Amino acid sequence: MKMNHIAKVAAAALLTFGVTSAMAVITGSKHDLSASGGGTIKANAGQNNDEICVYCHTPHASNTDFSGAPLWNKATPTGSFKMYGATAAGVAGQTIAGTTTEIQPSAPSLACLSCHDGVSAINSIVNAPGSGGYVAGGQNVAFGATAAGTAFTMPAGVTQIGDGSTQPNPDLTNDHPVSITYVEGAASLKPVTTAITGWSGATTIAGLLRNGKVECGSCHDPHLGESDTFLRRNKATVGENSNAGSRVCLTCHDK
Ligand code: HEC
Ligand code: HEC
Ligand code: HEC
Ligand code: HEC
Repeated sequence: MKMNHIAKVAAAALLTFGVTSAMAVITGSKHDLSASGGGTIKANAGQNNDEICVYCHTPHASNTDFSGAPLWNKATPTGSFKMYGATAAGVAGQTIAGTTTEIQPSAPSLACLSCHDGVSAINSIVNAPGSGGYVAGGQNVAFGATAAGTAFTMPAGVTQIGDGSTQPNPDLTNDHPVSITYVEGAASLKPVTTAITGWSGATTIAGLLRNGKVECGSCHDPHLGESDTFLRRNKATVGENSNAGSRVCLTCHDK
């Protein structure tokens, strides 16, 4: 009887929390790369590989090249990227409005690309779980059928954002521009002070930007496993598809 009551209170609390909070649930998502993670790409069981955050963050000895991707636990990608609107790898790209991208992705996008570029090892981490285990340039831990010491890169397909056929220079020319300054009015962009609702982690467009620029993290929150394709849109407020009615796009572009 008493247990039943506690269970009911707990269930009610859970329900309330679930409805009122935009809490990110990375556990069990495709970004949970622990042995019990939600996708097919993940660590082997054992060897302390039951951690989740460690494939991206470490509490100590992080790679400080990634300002904007906090406590980053991966080595810096070495490839030269071909940016959106660029004529070659290693030069700035340009949009129709004439705004130029950075020559290389800035740190917040480079962090995503340190797994999604198709070149960098997904299973490479600087500070491995447990006592010791620090290797400055990163070390490859065992992932699925891939043995420790061997790189496991993003397989060909839609999640390989840097096109595999163009290696070693990942190609971003067929992706929405990133590492690009948000210029109000260009491409019908709304003022950065515009209030926005239903977004995780931001209440204005300015809150979506990183150093005034659009980066991967503007549209995505890598921890938001309950959202379709990790989009920052709160699924609960827009139905099954967090980009229903192209709300992600219409947030910035007045079209
Ligand atoms: C797949 C990679 C990845 C994993 C796994 C991951 N994170 Fe992150 N995390 C990021 C990135 C990228 C950012 C920067 C996001 C941005 O630009 O907004 C970040 C930012 C953060 C921040 C600061 C921004 C904020 O939310 O206020 C915290 C705190 C954080 N992560 C905690 C965690 C914890 C705790 C875990 C494990 C449960 C975890 N992360 C797992 C990629 C990851
Ligand atoms: C530690 C490696 C790692 C990092 C860092 C990382 N991802 Fe991923 N991501 C993955 C893996 C692995 C998958 C699953 C790919 C697959 O199954 O094809 C994935 C899948 C995704 C998906 C597809 C989800 C789906 O259900 O289709 C999106 C979107 C995504 N990542 C965005 C991001 C963004 C944005 C960042 C940076 C903020 C990021 N990722 C950083 C490893 C990573
Ligand atoms: C302007 C917004 C925006 C930016 C910036 C952005 N994305 Fe996305 N991304 C989306 C949307 C919207 C989807 C869902 C597309 C769909 O449903 O097919 C998506 C889907 C994805 C997917 C899953 C592919 C699929 O179609 O299943 C991956 C992986 C991904 N993004 C990674 C990234 C990475 C890495 C970056 C930075 C280099 C990035 N995104 C930047 C909006 C964005
Ligand atoms: C966080 C704000 C933001 C969001 C969300 C966003 N965009 Fe953009 N978009 C930009 C910026 C900044 C540019 C660069 C504009 C310029 O030329 O200065 C841009 C440029 C573009 C361009 C023009 C590229 C060119 O070559 O001129 C298109 C097309 C576009 N976005 C489509 C989309 C679509 C489709 C979505 C939804 C999936 C989307 N955008 C979501 C900010 C955003």
